Parts: sequence; C-alpha cells; structure tokens
Amino acid sequence: MSPRCWINGVEQLDITVADRGLQYGDGLFETLAVFDGQCPRFQDHYQRLRAGCDRLGIPLPDETLLLQEVAQAAKGQDKAVIKLILTSGVGGRGYTRPVNPQVTRIVMLHAWPDYPLAYWQNGIAMMLCQTRLGCNPALAGIKHLNRLEQVLARNEWQGNDYAEGLMCDTDGNVIEGTMSNVYLVRDNTLYTPTTDHSGVAGVMRHWILDNAPKLNIDIVETAISVEDIKQADEVILSNSLIGLWPVKAFETCEFQPGPVYWALLKHLLKDYPVVDV
Ligand SMILES: Cc1ncc(COP(=O)(O)O)c(C=O)c1O
Repeated sequence: MSPRCWINGVEQLDITVADRGLQYGDGLFETLAVFDGQCPRFQDHYQRLRAGCDRLGIPLPDETLLLQEVAQAAKGQDKAVIKLILTSGVGGRGYTRPVNPQVTRIVMLHAWPDYPLAYWQNGIAMMLCQTRLGCNPALAGIKHLNRLEQVLARNEWQGNDYAEGLMCDTDGNVIEGTMSNVYLVRDNTLYTPTTDHSGVAGVMRHWILDNAPKLNIDIVETAISVEDIKQADEVILSNSLIGLWPVKAFETCEFQPGPVYWALLKHLLKDYPVVDV
C-alpha cells in the first residue's frame, strides 16, 4: 500500500520530474517518530533542518507551517513514522538554482517498523561494511538527500542476520551505522565519533549528548577505530525510530546490554515510547 503523502500541503503522490530533489538530491530530510498523534521531537528535527538549509543555502520554510503539515499527517496515529523532505524545488536542466527557489515540502506517513523486542532486550548483530563514507565538512552533520553511500552499504547484506552495518570513513575511522549513530562505553564513559567531517548529527545523538551527563555518564566526541569498538564494554546505536539498541555481536566479539544502555533507555522511554520493554 502506498504511504499517504502531502506535497506542499496537498494530499497527492506525484511530483514533477523537474524537482531538484530528484535531479540532484538538492534537499534535506527528517524521519520523525509519531506517538499518540504527536511528534515529540519536532523542534529538534526543525533545528537540524535549519542547519541544513543554512548550509545548502535553501530557504527554510516557516516552522508553524511545517508543524501544521506534520500535525495533519500525525493526527489520529497511535504510533507511526513521518518522513519530511524539503527540496530546493523545481529547476531547469543545469545545477544553477532558480533565483528565488520555491522549496518543495513533502510529508509522508509510514507505518511504524516492527523490529523484534529482542533487539532492545538482548541486542543486535552488526556487520562491518566495506563501503566507506567520504569526508566532506560542507555536507557532514546535515541530513541531505544524497544517501548513496548508505544505499551501497545497506546492499552489502540481505536477510535478518544483521540489523545494522557499521561504516568507516575513507581514512578508516568509525563514523556511524548505515541508519544510526554509534557509541562505545569504556569505564562508564560514552564515546561517539565526531560528525564534523563525515556522518549525520542525529537527533537522538543530540538527546544522548544532552542527557548522558544528567545520568552521571560522561560523554566524549572523538575519533574511534574499529579496534576501539571491539575493546568496548558496551556498544550502542541510536536513531529517532529505534531510540537505542545495544549491540550483542560484531565481527568475532560479543557484548551484553550494559548499565549505560539500560540507564539511557529507561530515561528515554519516559517520554519517547519507541518500545515496551
Ligand atoms: C546515516 C544516518 N546516520 C544517523 C542517523 C540517526 O539520525 P536520527 O537520530 O536523527 O534519527 C540516521 C537516521 O536515519 C541516518 O540515516
């Protein structure tokens, strides 16, 4: 079944081929969780859109307008996903943007993904992807529409043996999962890769950076190697739909969901009910 979709506020599925989102990936997207008809992290997603629009030089649509369109899609939904896409709108053949780009707003409503409860309780198996992430400070951190690296990486495995793949940049630094940010725990301190030259600065990552200290967990943004992951006490993944997952298997290593994971998950679930554990 097709998802419900609103383009510039009008319910429809079709979009012009001249849209620069299709022609060049000239745009941004957000994936928002809906609980009980509400998007509890709308503000954080809007802030990342603001950063992305600034970086790409695309006009940022009005917050009230976007919130209204998201609310219209979320209405009556118990638990669902909204994908919000902004593009630089309709253009000509070449790269040059129109002088006054008319941003296209796409709001799509999707079903909530039904991951097994065991992913939160026991952890997930993660593979090491061969596809590398490019280093580009101009695009790092924002959630732009060009996701070919993630598409190639996700295509490296089929089936349910792995729930996520870990990606390194071209220098071999660990950056993130194909659809998540990554953390390791050593001696009650969380370490997560910086996102200033590669990777997406996740909304859930932002929540963890804010909330870990409140739970007396130190958090450090730093360079991380595959070896560091293997030596970790705990390995954790995050995104807006999973909240947090512990990693139970990576390469030849095995991990347990540990105290840092459980403390963060319990704190998160107070107002962000991704799972009933
Ligand atoms: C490549 C990538 N990194 C990180 C994330 C996590 O972002 P967020 O926490 O905003 O969902 C995602 C989410 O889809 C992603 O696709």
